[in-house]
Amino acid sequence: MENLRSRIRGTGHALPEKVLTNFDLEKMVDTSDEWITTRTGIRERHVAAENESLSLFAAEAGKQALDMAGMSASELDLIILATVTMDQPIPASSCFVQDILGARKAAAFDIQAGCSGFIYGLAIADQFIRAGGAKRILVIGGEILSKFLDWKDRSTCVLFGDGCGAVALSAEPGGHGLLSTSIHSDGSNADFITLPGGGSRIPVSHEMIDANLHTIKMKGNETFKIAVRSLEATCREAIERAGLTPADVRWFVPHQANTRIISAVAERLGWPPESVYLNIDRIGNTSSGSIPIALDELVRAGKVKEEDVLLFAAFGAGLTWGSALVRW
Ligand code: UT7
Repeated sequence: MENLRSRIRGTGHALPEKVLTNFDLEKMVDTSDEWITTRTGIRERHVAAENESLSLFAAEAGKQALDMAGMSASELDLIILATVTMDQPIPASSCFVQDILGARKAAAFDIQAGCSGFIYGLAIADQFIRAGGAKRILVIGGEILSKFLDWKDRSTCVLFGDGCGAVALSAEPGGHGLLSTSIHSDGSNADFITLPGGGSRIPVSHEMIDANLHTIKMKGNETFKIAVRSLEATCREAIERAGLTPADVRWFVPHQANTRIISAVAERLGWPPESVYLNIDRIGNTSSGSIPIALDELVRAGKVKEEDVLLFAAFGAGLTWGSALVRW
């Protein structure tokens, strides 16, 4: 059997229209534009309207990726949607996306790996493609986090944004496409980033909501310290698995949680600022949306050339982390 790789043939992204700036947040909680920009790099983020949910943006991002790839939805074998902010608990939001796109032949499922969801999605898709189980796959990552935030908690509400990104993959022989992936988890630190209520442990109840267990909590500082170390290790692992060195990487496209985390990782790997793609100032932390949104911006700006090596890396709730190396 010939060796097949997962080649990214198209990218897309979709954001809600409404923008919330740091100055808007100054009027809502005890914070400042100065604190948010210096600690995180974020200046503004997009937030969904009351009647907008995840599948709308996930489908739009997917449609754009298919259009760029010249692929029709009816050709898709699989749709993988990485998210922690599904439309509703049942059914999987990927099934809504499948219906909106009209991808009748495609199997569809959601995965949940916190902010590393897109990397996990790519790693899963790559296994299907290499094993011959699917030829055309849409991997979508995205969130509507604004609907799961405590807008009175300044330690979380200033960090996150809404939006989705997608890639259309096709199975192709040759040296282009996904070269390697690396994924990891550590459930012993599951309490670092949580949304405790609404599941089988603490089911929905008035008491659960009164106790504010339906919103996201994060131990930011603890997460920060582990994130840098883990991201460095997973980046090195993916690069080594592909038989390359950090100097071969043209673009580092990281999860956009904090510019200080990204700079620290880039510095450890020896990448200059010109090779690191940042859009956190305009988009905030969109969890599993951040890498495919950033990638689509980079591609549509014409900055990615054939043969360029790109490295994606993310860290998030679980804890989970991982990276994926691609030759364009
Ligand atoms: O995407 C998934 C993975 N998540 C991450 O990777 C996030 C990693 N963590 C971070 O990015 C950073 O830890 C944060 C941006 C979340 C926080 O930055 P920090 O430098 O770690 O700040 P801190 O949590 O240690 O808080 C420092 C101070 C505290 O005040 P005291 O105790 O020093 O008086 C906070 O109460 O900043 C205060 N603070 C704020 N002040 C103004 C916390 N949030 C705010 C705020 N505005 N929004």
